Amino acid sequence: MHLKDKINLQKLPKHVAIIMDGNGRWAKQQGKHRVFGHQNGVQSVREVTEAGAELGIQYMTLYAFSTENWNRPKLEVMALMKLLVHTIRKEVKTLNKNSIRLQAVGNLKLLPKDAYKELQEAIEATKDNTRMTLVLALSYSSKWEIIEAVKKIAREAKDGSIEIEDIDETMFSAALSPDNIPDPELMIRTSGETRISNFLLWQLAYAELYFSPVFWPDFRKDNFYQAIYDYQNRERRFGKTSEQILDGESQ
Ligand code: IPE
Ligand code: IPE
Ligand code: MG
Repeated sequence: MHLKDKINLQKLPKHVAIIMDGNGRWAKQQGKHRVFGHQNGVQSVREVTEAGAELGIQYMTLYAFSTENWNRPKLEVMALMKLLVHTIRKEVKTLNKNSIRLQAVGNLKLLPKDAYKELQEAIEATKDNTRMTLVLALSYSSKWEIIEAVKKIAREAKDGSIEIEDIDETMFSAALSPDNIPDPELMIRTSGETRISNFLLWQLAYAELYFSPVFWPDFRKDNFYQAIYDYQNRERRFGKTSEQILDGESQ
């Protein structure tokens, strides 16, 4: 039985978040420049996006570039931005063909003008697609995102449009994600690193974490199916006891 067929389509996570890591090490292993790894990572993005859409995952967030990544050597940053423009331009057709809506989260104002423009055009061109939403986390850091949400709520409290007492988890989540994207139930990180690296700190509060030793450029559909299968065999207790979960939460 193929791995894909073992997946229970009734128990899919709605939202899967992925830290695509290991491009540099993958390239280095072959005596190549880090940028070669990034270029080869594009195929993995294609495969995983397709696999997610085929299964019926509704939201996928891919960590493509962190705020901290701006501190990398200039040459690598420039190559990554070029790759971003080039890839987005090339993939819009496929996104539309597969009815995938593109979104982005992060401090996008820091992107080079051409990358920003390409991104906005792709977001606009795919906005009516309904099968899956693909969110690129770009120039993203969760602490930055949380501070932005705090500022927004503070402004509303200051101008009197909300009461401080009304601030709750729902309001804060909505300030973080105005699109009402549900929190990821599953977070995958490739390349064997076992940290969060400033990714979705609030949203991952109760996510299942899956760490794969595979470097991102080698990550294929089957690796993704394996992660989903693993997720489906975990018991998500949300603070309750195992018995409560097995008894259908009746106790
Ligand atoms: C992930 O791969 C891609 C980005 C962070 C842009 P890395 O470039 O971090 O690769 P490693 O972790 O150095 O191998
Ligand atoms: C996290 O990867 C960011 C992305 C995958 C875009 P890094 O490779 O930058 O993370 P650290 O610095 O090793 O934790
Ligand atoms: Mg890395």
